[in-house]
Amino acid sequence: MDASKLMFRDGLLQGERILVTGGGTGLGKEMAEAFLKLGAEVIIWGRRGEVLKEAADELMGKHGGKVVPMACDIRAAEAIKENLDEIWSTGALTGLVNNAAGNFISRTQDLSPRGFDAIANIVFRGSFYVTLDIGKRWIEEKRKGSVISILTTWVWNGSPFTVPSAMSKAGLNAMTQSLAVEWGHYGIRFNAIAPGPFPTKGAWERLSPGQSTDGSTRQTTNPMGRVGEMHELCNLAVFLMAPGCDYLTGQTIAIDGAMYQASGGNFSGLAAWSDEQWAAARDMIKASNEKDRAQRTA
Ligand code: HXC
Ligand code: NAP
Repeated sequence: MDASKLMFRDGLLQGERILVTGGGTGLGKEMAEAFLKLGAEVIIWGRRGEVLKEAADELMGKHGGKVVPMACDIRAAEAIKENLDEIWSTGALTGLVNNAAGNFISRTQDLSPRGFDAIANIVFRGSFYVTLDIGKRWIEEKRKGSVISILTTWVWNGSPFTVPSAMSKAGLNAMTQSLAVEWGHYGIRFNAIAPGPFPTKGAWERLSPGQSTDGSTRQTTNPMGRVGEMHELCNLAVFLMAPGCDYLTGQTIAIDGAMYQASGGNFSGLAAWSDEQWAAARDMIKASNEKDRAQRTA
């Protein structure tokens, strides 16, 4: 991200302590950088400890401040509790970004129950476990808090060929709306961001296998003729996270160049794929999953 394109004054997030799940890569790392640059202490979670450590070192090298990398698998409620106990031993969090996710394109008839669970256990269950544990602590300690969940525009219209993700993200959209009401009187806010295409290695390897992340693909259906730029997403995340917009809660905001209105913003175009194209995509996706798994166990 070009940090000079952040819209906000230095020090805006001084005193904030923000957890970004999946903060070692992609959009999570970009948002972590923006929060850090504006004065927050940031904690980043993911399953690959080395990836997190490299990200934390890189961000602190650029901006100073404090980024704490912690290997934590959000599918495991007990691991979440242990890591939150460790965080809380030096002070409470003030914000959470539910960003960690898993996804891949597949014809739904080719999915097994384990394939469905691989996505739903991260996105739907894991994000809820993290939110619940942190929310209970805030309520117990009478603290305000701000939660942002990173969703997709598919929460409004579904997405063929990524059905476990579409179902899980829609569940988090319901969580956002429900808890904004239920926990509003505690001063805990819930908002969500539905990004359009912001090319990242993790998403592109599994959703557009074989296509470059340089922005040259998937723009033709976008009214603005381009993919998103990271500082645009980060400015929205900072705005929603910052103290100062305390009355804004229960909202899911799309940032997609109006792609969702123009073309549905989902994977309906894959209906034209042949059996051979699906087999090739599956092989490429599984090879990427394998590489990441090796880093988790390294
Ligand atoms: C069908 C597949 C498959 C594929 C895996 N599976 N890939 N089925 N088509 N392409 C099945 C496997 O066969 C297996 O079922 C089951 O899924 C579990 O596979 P594992 O590889 O063992 O899973 P695991 O190691 O737990 O990995 C989880 C993962 C992986 C979700 C599959 O991709 C991951 O860890 N991803 C994290 C990062 C990520 O996905 N980032 C993208 C986020 S982008 P069987 O029954 O065979 O055992 C995003 C939205 C972006 O969310 C929107 C862009 C516009
Ligand atoms: P990404 O780089 O693959 O990010 C996913 C992150 O989640 C990784 O850092 C991964 O780290 C982490 N993660 C996965 N499973 C986890 C688990 N069980 N426990 C803890 N962390 C876990 O992809 P991205 O594109 O940046 O996606 C980030 C978010 O943006 C996702 O919610 C995605 O749905 C959303 N989104 C992205 C786009 C886009 O265009 N890029 C569009 C719409 C929405 P480990 O593998 O090390 O655990």
